[in-house]
Amino acid sequence: MKDFVVTPWEVKGEVDYEKLIKEFGISPLTQELLERIKKHTKELHPFLERKIFFAHRDLDWILDMYEKGEKFYLYTGRGPSGEMHLGHLLPFIFTKWLQDKFDAKVYIQITDDEKFLFKNLTLEQTKKFGYSNALDIIALGFDKKKTFIFLDTEYSKTLYEQAIKVAKHLTFSTVKATFGFTNETNVGAIFFTSVQAVPAFLESVKEGRNVPCLVPLGVDQDPHFRLARDVLPKLGFYKPAVIHSKFFPSLLGKNAKMSASEPNSAIFTTDSEEDVDRKIKNAFTGGATTIKEQKEKGGNPEVCSVYSYYYFLFGKDEKELKQIYEDCKSGKRLCGECKQILAERIKKFLKEHQRKREEAKKEIDKFLIKD
Ligand code: TYM
Repeated sequence: MKDFVVTPWEVKGEVDYEKLIKEFGISPLTQELLERIKKHTKELHPFLERKIFFAHRDLDWILDMYEKGEKFYLYTGRGPSGEMHLGHLLPFIFTKWLQDKFDAKVYIQITDDEKFLFKNLTLEQTKKFGYSNALDIIALGFDKKKTFIFLDTEYSKTLYEQAIKVAKHLTFSTVKATFGFTNETNVGAIFFTSVQAVPAFLESVKEGRNVPCLVPLGVDQDPHFRLARDVLPKLGFYKPAVIHSKFFPSLLGKNAKMSASEPNSAIFTTDSEEDVDRKIKNAFTGGATTIKEQKEKGGNPEVCSVYSYYYFLFGKDEKELKQIYEDCKSGKRLCGECKQILAERIKKFLKEHQRKREEAKKEIDKFLIKD
């Protein structure tokens, strides 16, 4: 039995990212590549600094092209099966940073069709979540002149015409082997990866010339793009480049899943202050069983979900993170205080995010594309 599983529809166990790099055939993000990025961006996003974005496909090629004067566009997406948690925001926060730094167009696909096909949800429900999720995405500050958001079912004329071209090069046996489908899988699900591939070359179709595409995503989504990279050259397009992020861990411990079906596992963007206080209070930590023991022996930040929250999003800078780590290990920083500070930071973040989310309601039409 494998100790962890990562597919676009299931993430289970404690993920070993070194192993995953080998299994998926992706490349680690090297120091050399980070330096090359920094040459253009002047600074590195903490996600890069901390190797939260840890792997890639063809990022060196994207930079080669950029240095030759060929700009790339960005593509990422969201499957609207519920409200978004902080983990879902990660690729979007990073994509917005890349948009600013490289002055890039962004396509954002909201796969209401996918979640209808794969989950026990109606199309009305996935659409409703799609619109709600779009507000979270807009709230992150994307440039309305350069960002195009669409729900698959509302952009289907454009998408379908391209998706069938991809589908013609994909066999059931390939899709079955890639995603672990069975003969009982519905045919919409079998077709779906063709739909997710389209925005990876849509800008080339629109422009009538090949435009390089970079896809920031959580590593679970990589298999879609492994297939897209096989097929797109057969249609005369570039292979999309990909940059992969690790998973923002569950509040219930590293082995637990962060998911909508387990509300206490994650902070959702729509959570109230009381929700945050309760969830952080109950979070799994690396602390000892008694305060006395923790003061003597110290805690273990490596396994602590509270520490990982600082590490992923809520630490001020590298210096503060190091201090938190050391003070935890030495027994100087206790869980109660550590949780309280984190809860305050999350509440502050959510208050601001929820305000921007409200404002996004007025802006949404400027971002949405339909056909
Ligand atoms: P979805 O809605 O499952 O997830 C949206 C994005 O968030 C990433 N993600 C996470 N990242 C860090 N930590 C986590 N705990 C975490 N959970 C999810 C996902 O990898 C994803 O990048 N089919 C897709 C939607 C989609 C898409 C795309 C995603 C359509 N086109 C292109 C990426 C790129 C989906 O259901 O994502």
